[in-house]
Amino acid sequence: MKQLSIERLSRYLSQRAPIRELFTEYSFPTSYEEQLQLVPHLETIANHNGYYLRMFLKKYLEQVELHAGGDIDDSLYDIMASVIAAKELDPTEYDYLTYPIVSNEMIRMRENPRIISGANTTGFRTWEAAICLSLILKSDSVWNTYSDSSVTVVELGSGTGLVSLLLLQRHKKSPFLKDIYITDGSVELVENFKSTLTLNGFDPHDKNLHLQQLLWGDNIENSTATYRNTDVLVGADITYDSSVLPCLIEELKYFFTNSIQQYPQAIIGATVRNEETIVAWECHLNENFAGKWSVSRPDLNDDEFLGDIYIKNKTWPINIYFIG
Ligand SMILES: C[S@@+](CC[C@H](N)C(=O)[O-])C[C@H]1O[C@@H](n2cnc3c(N)ncnc32)[C@H](O)[C@@H]1O
Repeated sequence: MKQLSIERLSRYLSQRAPIRELFTEYSFPTSYEEQLQLVPHLETIANHNGYYLRMFLKKYLEQVELHAGGDIDDSLYDIMASVIAAKELDPTEYDYLTYPIVSNEMIRMRENPRIISGANTTGFRTWEAAICLSLILKSDSVWNTYSDSSVTVVELGSGTGLVSLLLLQRHKKSPFLKDIYITDGSVELVENFKSTLTLNGFDPHDKNLHLQQLLWGDNIENSTATYRNTDVLVGADITYDSSVLPCLIEELKYFFTNSIQQYPQAIIGATVRNEETIVAWECHLNENFAGKWSVSRPDLNDDEFLGDIYIKNKTWPINIYFIG
């Protein structure tokens, strides 16, 4: 079993890595000094998701009691007492997670994994394909084709918006964006994203930042002007069901026929949950973009690629499609 450092453990906890998976895959640091280092991280989690913390502490305390030889910091018990009655978040409550896509630079997210059917969208949690696509898009090599400060990007089906936030974070460090359009079919998600921007120190009213509802293949007329100047279309986990593929393909075709930019391309992250859906997606690509697309599959066990990122459900590979 691999031993986790306190630093990495706290990063995994702040991404709400599933407790059972964590304790199956790793052994934990339990010395008195390490317990002290962990306490402030646990206190932060207690403010947002007492239930998750209770699940973690229950198992962690068992390990500490077994290995720390009586050297147990009382504050661990105090924190446990404060969350002992905590219940799972209900669909009206939000949790706050952090993703270190670029090491030491946190992206903060407001999520509720339990709102799915209620709001008729799966976009209130950040999906693994968005994490993986963000890890790809942080690299300079993706953007080398374009000259600085001139790239216009549209994100489709942005959900919680991790991919767009990574691009904004990257832009803050080294400007490369002209405009960014963060879109989703759900108005509620577009609204939710305003607070996520503020949470991350970005101004939702920035004139180069556009939040809008965009339903694939639906409001085609409205998107003409946007796509004219768009270089790159991005999207994560938007190929999740065969029924959504025809309108998504229409949207992609519309982008490629309307963009007047030199190197228009679409970069899509797709979780392979169901082989049939992926086969259907690749058939659509062959029918409409024959010879113009490629796919790569990042190694989800590569420590160098992931850094402090925890990927749940590694049994589902993630494909990254480059079209254009
Ligand atoms: C599985 S979620 C992925 C969200 C986000 N990209 C991520 O990976 O975390 C799919 C997203 O696509 C959006 N969506 C689904 N069908 C859509 C459509 N026809 N037009 C626009 N957005 C759509 C949903 O609202 C949801 O936010």
